[in-house]
Amino acid sequence: MDKRLFFPATQRNRKSIEGVLYKIIKKNGSILEIGSGSGEHGVFFQKRFPKIVWQTSDPASIHRESISSWIDYEKLNKKMPQPLMIDVEKIPWKIPLKLIYSLQGIISINMIHVAPWSCTEALFRESGKLLNKGRFLILYGPFKIDNKHTSQSNYFFDNSLKMQNSLWGIRNLEEVSDEGKKNSFFQQEIINMPANNFLIIYRKDSN
Ligand SMILES: C[S@@+](CC[C@H](N)C(=O)[O-])C[C@H]1O[C@@H](n2cnc3c(N)ncnc32)[C@H](O)[C@@H]1O
Repeated sequence: MDKRLFFPATQRNRKSIEGVLYKIIKKNGSILEIGSGSGEHGVFFQKRFPKIVWQTSDPASIHRESISSWIDYEKLNKKMPQPLMIDVEKIPWKIPLKLIYSLQGIISINMIHVAPWSCTEALFRESGKLLNKGRFLILYGPFKIDNKHTSQSNYFFDNSLKMQNSLWGIRNLEEVSDEGKKNSFFQQEIINMPANNFLIIYRKDSN
């Protein structure tokens, strides 16, 4: 049965994210995506970077079913593994050893503001354990800079998130990067992305 979900934002942001990934991703190895949602990013990036293995994950079964349906629909079954059940707070993450050995980096798109702050803490903590020196953790989404919104639309978006769940909300980049530091990640680059989003590249600076 076709269980594909369609998240319209993925159509809008995937090309610009791809443009950054092109400069970062090495030819071989694997990438772990946290909070993959519908799976539309996953199959898109798997097709764009055919030599690597794109490993999706999500805690919600409806999302994992959608990801599997997208993998089927795009005929990527031979190349792309099935999504993992990863809730960043449920540790340790259950990840195949093969994936750990080949892991280039971890990416999470539009997740940390749609989850409690404890998820940001858990994401850095577990990524810090999994990734070796020099490997990356990439975050994409809206951020506050110096505790200020970067646009009025982000301010309204933040309020709407908090109305849905008081623990959600757009994060302050400095606090996110401090969490990185606690887990041996330095903030390598902040890239301005369309629609008032940022892509932040963190690198592990020790084992
Ligand atoms: C706004 S959606 C973004 C989905 C996708 N990355 C995208 O950009 O379309 C947020 C995603 O974060 C996932 N998520 C929420 N809490 C999480 C957690 N504790 N651990 C991992 N993922 C989580 C949700 O299931 C959802 O798929």
